[in-house]
Amino acid sequence: MRTIDWDYEKNNIIMIDQTLLPAEYRIIECSTIESLCEAIISLRVRGAPALGAAGGFGVALSAFKSNASSLDALIKNIENAGKTLIATRPTAVNLSWGVKRVIRAMEDARNIKETRMFALDEAKAIADEDVKKNMQLGEYGASLLEDGDTVLTHCNAGRLACVDWGTALGVIRSARADGKDIKVIACETRPLNQGSRRETRPLNQGSRLTTWELMEDKIPVTLITDSMSGHVMRKGMVDKVIVGADRITQDAVFNKIGTYTHSIIAKEHGIPFYVAAPVSTFDFERLEDDVEIEIRKPQELRFFGNRQIAPLDVDVYNPAFDATPMENVTGIITENGIFYPPFLIDEVKIRV
Ligand code: MRU
Repeated sequence: MRTIDWDYEKNNIIMIDQTLLPAEYRIIECSTIESLCEAIISLRVRGAPALGAAGGFGVALSAFKSNASSLDALIKNIENAGKTLIATRPTAVNLSWGVKRVIRAMEDARNIKETRMFALDEAKAIADEDVKKNMQLGEYGASLLEDGDTVLTHCNAGRLACVDWGTALGVIRSARADGKDIKVIACETRPLNQGSRRETRPLNQGSRLTTWELMEDKIPVTLITDSMSGHVMRKGMVDKVIVGADRITQDAVFNKIGTYTHSIIAKEHGIPFYVAAPVSTFDFERLEDDVEIEIRKPQELRFFGNRQIAPLDVDVYNPAFDATPMENVTGIITENGIFYPPFLIDEVKIRV
């Protein structure tokens, strides 16, 4: 099934619980905004495009579950739910983009029934478009890969981070579909050594999710720790780096912490560094300093699962994302084509 979808019988959101992979594949349902927010905060659903769909379906969910008796009251409930959803994770722009897009789509609704219908139609459109865009983006990106290439990737920018197909991994899937022999080096993606007090298993996206979904598709993948990327690039084991993005401002690409380091190493060794992301990830009105980077809990570094691996009271700095300046980016692969430096705002506006 898709990473996230709508159950038309129960009018609930259904999703793959990503915290349980790779040990267990389980579909869970969210029937309230509270349970959806919990799922987002706990990373049961994660990844920028998947969060866009979660935001959209979340607005639809609030429209269906609200027991407001007037249209005005319903709209108020939905707007509050939208704000609550947006506040769950601040860095990926797609979440607020998905929420706002569905709220906009309901503006012309004349009654409660129409509001629900418009909301669900729009949310479903976001999900369907995501798959189409990723496949389109994948085709553009595949043209950059040569038969026999090894691609290093960070975090999970695959089908689990999207509705389906994936962005960075979508490029690899498309190249493989073209008959090219592409191998992947997946970085483990620290520091999610512990999910939460309730869900204490490590939640690293690269080691658990990227490897799992590539192996499901029989795409050769080798797992390394994040700190090995310098070594493998220096050894000539990497032809290209492709990562996803959570937000692209005029001057920087925000992605999972560690991405910036890989970009510097790639630049040092003359290895192309590509970002694959749908245009919903662009936030070209903003600059790097305008963006809030999510700071996660200290226990993610003080523990590995249940095991304490650092003094309990050690000070911890745990940003979930970093910003890679545009001068380190070779190209940005989108469903509207590939952007190259100097990444002019006007060109992006025309094509976006
Ligand atoms: O904290 P996460 O798991 O939501 O972070 C996800 C990433 O950083 C991905 O690499 C990014 O969203 C690109 S997803 C196609």
